[in-house]
Amino acid sequence: MNLVPFVSDDPATRNKVLTRVRNSEMPPKGLPAPTLDDRENFVTWLDADLRTKACAAGPLPGPYPIRRLNRDEYAATIRDLLDIHVNAAHALPADGAGGEGFDNAAETLFLSPIHAEKYLEAAKESLDYAVKDPKARARFLIAEPGPALSPEAAATKILEAFLPKAFRRPASPQDVTRYLALFRGAQTRGETFNHSIQFALAAVLVSPNFLFRIEAPNPAPDPRLVDDYALASRLSYFLWGTMPDGVLFDLAAKGALRDPAILTAQVGRMLKDEKSREFATRFIEQWLGTRELGRDIKPDQNLFPIYYDAEIQAAIRYEPVLYFQEILSKNLSLLNLIDSNFTILTDKLTKLYGLNLKEPNQQPKRADLPPDSHRGGILTMSAVLAVSSYPQRTSPVLRGKWILENIFGTPPPPPPANVPALDENHAGAPPQTLRERLELHRANPTCASCHSRIDPLGFALENYDVVGRWRTEDSGKPIDNRGELPDGTKIDGPDALKRVLLERKQAFFRNFTSKMLGYALGRGLSPNDSCTVDQIMDKLEKEQYSSQTLIREIVLSVPFRYQAGRK
Ligand code: HEC
Repeated sequence: MNLVPFVSDDPATRNKVLTRVRNSEMPPKGLPAPTLDDRENFVTWLDADLRTKACAAGPLPGPYPIRRLNRDEYAATIRDLLDIHVNAAHALPADGAGGEGFDNAAETLFLSPIHAEKYLEAAKESLDYAVKDPKARARFLIAEPGPALSPEAAATKILEAFLPKAFRRPASPQDVTRYLALFRGAQTRGETFNHSIQFALAAVLVSPNFLFRIEAPNPAPDPRLVDDYALASRLSYFLWGTMPDGVLFDLAAKGALRDPAILTAQVGRMLKDEKSREFATRFIEQWLGTRELGRDIKPDQNLFPIYYDAEIQAAIRYEPVLYFQEILSKNLSLLNLIDSNFTILTDKLTKLYGLNLKEPNQQPKRADLPPDSHRGGILTMSAVLAVSSYPQRTSPVLRGKWILENIFGTPPPPPPANVPALDENHAGAPPQTLRERLELHRANPTCASCHSRIDPLGFALENYDVVGRWRTEDSGKPIDNRGELPDGTKIDGPDALKRVLLERKQAFFRNFTSKMLGYALGRGLSPNDSCTVDQIMDKLEKEQYSSQTLIREIVLSVPFRYQAGRK
């Protein structure tokens, strides 16, 4: 069935068609549907066509919408602004996930009345805490009224120093006047100096200029470089998840940050800083889906009692995060995400993995893996194996789906309604392996159209149980880790799987680059952004997929440094 002549030329419409057809929402139920292969060919064609057209005029900045600081960004920003070490965001509502699956996406970060109330409480609470801490207090209450300084003059000094940091840009005289009026009002009501200035500062912390990331709009019709202060914020919220530090503010004040060489040097500096842990954690855990591990997603503790042990739970959860941080800080190749000869282990995790290493450690530490370890790369990490399983058992379907979605960025369409659940083994009947039970379904061609793509990827990981322990038997029968992809590629076991993924690294890097760009820009990507993705991928390939190349090229990219025009 040829769908091409029916597609409108308008890129926005084409993009909608692409999404609908890809998700099997079109053609609607009841009308003849294309075969899975036809559907895929059509989607590939439309996607490539959209990309070529989007790139005809070169990369475009795309939108950079106003967004609220999300919960994590708020906590980190308050920490750095007030120099306090409490989680100021503990009572704030959780944020949803946007286009590329991250909770820093502008499209989800609006402000509801419940947010407003909670942010006001959080501001008051943080300030109360900060004024009681002598070190923190001295940082922002930089003046006190005395014989030579009137209360109003002291308040002015404090506000003049505080406002530019809180708003992440120079404060105008009107900004100062506005908050000084609040101070004065409190003084008139008979409040002490301390209470009055706290009142004004609390108002600063619920101002949209603090709570939202707002950039002065571009009045010109064409794209332009974003101003240096906005760029400093884009950079610091990307790599640190918090406000710019003194160095970035100074460079912005000099107008130097727009210089690509200086910007590149800052990326290097920032990735070495402790604060980049925030980035590694938030990016990796949301990309891999391991953020809820141990909370909403949890292996059954009765079947897997190690999940009673907080220490091993933490080691499992942080392995991918620390691993990614190691790759970044040492500027290693991103191919390490697929396969490598090291990982980050504690002694308990080493034992879980059945490894016999010389230097067991209570603290997570980089460890070289022996050649036959069946580990290395994120796929064989306990955290990933657990989030792609059910709490009680592994599922090749879930793991295959996980790979299609998170490695290749091509999730399978959702399963049709009314698919019967897998029969669990019945007492009395001879136990069947999961494979035997799934193969019964795969005999049906309708089911096979999807499952022949999904299941072989997952079967390759059947040697790992729910928590990632190596096993050679399931239900008393030997593990069969073989599978065949629809194109005839045979995969037997995890090592073969990694080889196949490495052969298809283009698809992985397209997905990974898109995810990282979406995270950096804090918004979902559109077909217009594919031009930027292609350019970054070219650079990546030229520089052996080194991790810092990816970050640097994203920071130097048009959407990261430019603002769209008013057209
Ligand atoms: C359009 C693609 C598609 C088709 C067609 C499809 N499935 Fe699925 N199936 C999936 C996906 C995706 C999942 C994973 C669901 C999830 O995310 O929970 C799944 C899950 C399953 C599971 C659960 C696996 C487990 O480990 O518990 C079974 C069983 C299953 N499908 C059987 C079938 C059968 C039988 C048919 C044919 C009648 C069928 N499916 C047709 C996509 C499909």
